[in-house]
Amino acid sequence: MTKELPNIAVLGATGVVGREILKILVENNVPYKSIKFLASARSAGSKIEFKGEEHTVIEATPEVFEGINIVLASAGGSTSLKLAPEAAKRGAVFIDNSSAFRMEKDVPLVIAGVNDDDLKLHKGIIANPNCSTSQLMLVLKPLDNHAKIKRLIVSTYQAVSGAGLKAINELTENTKAKMQGEEFKNDAFKYEIAFNVIPQIDVFCENGYTKEEMKVTNETRKILHLDKSVPISCTAVRVPVYKGHSEAVTIEFEKEITPEKVKEILNNAWGVEVMDDISNFVYPTPRHAADKDPVYVGRIRKSIAFDNGIDLFCVADNLRIGAALNTVRLAQKVIEMQLY
Ligand SMILES: NC(=O)c1ccc[n+]([C@@H]2O[C@H](COP(=O)([O-])OP(=O)(O)OC[C@H]3O[C@@H](n4cnc5c(N)ncnc54)[C@H](OP(=O)(O)O)[C@@H]3O)[C@@H](O)[C@H]2O)c1
Repeated sequence: MTKELPNIAVLGATGVVGREILKILVENNVPYKSIKFLASARSAGSKIEFKGEEHTVIEATPEVFEGINIVLASAGGSTSLKLAPEAAKRGAVFIDNSSAFRMEKDVPLVIAGVNDDDLKLHKGIIANPNCSTSQLMLVLKPLDNHAKIKRLIVSTYQAVSGAGLKAINELTENTKAKMQGEEFKNDAFKYEIAFNVIPQIDVFCENGYTKEEMKVTNETRKILHLDKSVPISCTAVRVPVYKGHSEAVTIEFEKEITPEKVKEILNNAWGVEVMDDISNFVYPTPRHAADKDPVYVGRIRKSIAFDNGIDLFCVADNLRIGAALNTVRLAQKVIEMQLY
């Protein structure tokens, strides 16, 4: 029996990711019966425009989730930790953008189109991977299917929008100050971000990697169901770019695979677009990827460091595939698969 259309709530609707979610709900024409816009007490009562109408933002309290079927959440880890169990207890499926539940055994960590079947295992909470992991999965999954990943090394060049509204404004203000020769007091980042790169995203772990780097490592393993013996290493760097995360990726495969075969596989892969013609200087950049859906891949070449190795460069809009787009796609899958 087909279910009634879901009542949905967007938690964190006033934030950078939340606003992108609202845009994509419209673009993807997601079906629903009713929609609520939730944020903290700070924004409660303010107005949000959606589909040409003004809506009032409601404070997210546990009771607000009564009767809600699907929550699209991007309100930070501590909010999710508090509210996800409350929403799930009331029968909702809570699709979470924060890192709070990603590595929990009972929480599927899913990229739509990569490991959809894992959605069936949900117990009320579904996690959306870290933005750097997300774009990588769409590229790696079809390659892993063909030649099996043996080792993976990733270096990221991450846009400031990955750190929220405050970080976006700081890049602007810092750049203006620098151009005018004025002093600037950085706040969102450990160092000034204008005309700089910062090799630290999130806090350091005991092993010397940052939490962001370990998220890429652990989440990749969980989503691709890779064995513990497959070594994965990541260096995550913040760069003065507004939108679009870039990643230099080296993959060693079990089986031989040529750059031509990689291009053929990725040309046929869902959600991926190959932009690779060095004779005409064609390769992806964040400016190209901003506000678009695909993960763009270029600079595909045989690695000279590993047998059966491939080097490539991939770029995607971190606010879309890295956060909002996958959240909306997951909600669409939950609706299609009647998992609410
Ligand atoms: N930016 C990215 O690329 C990216 C990618 C992947 C995942 N994420 C994750 O998505 C989440 C949001 O990121 P963002 O960049 O959109 O941040 P942001 O611009 O700072 O927005 C935060 C949102 O959360 C709401 N919020 C904060 N505390 C709350 C509370 N106690 N109760 C209810 N709502 C609360 C805020 O509402 P008010 O208006 O009331 O303050 C706002 O709507 C974070 O978990 C982040 O790690 C972000």
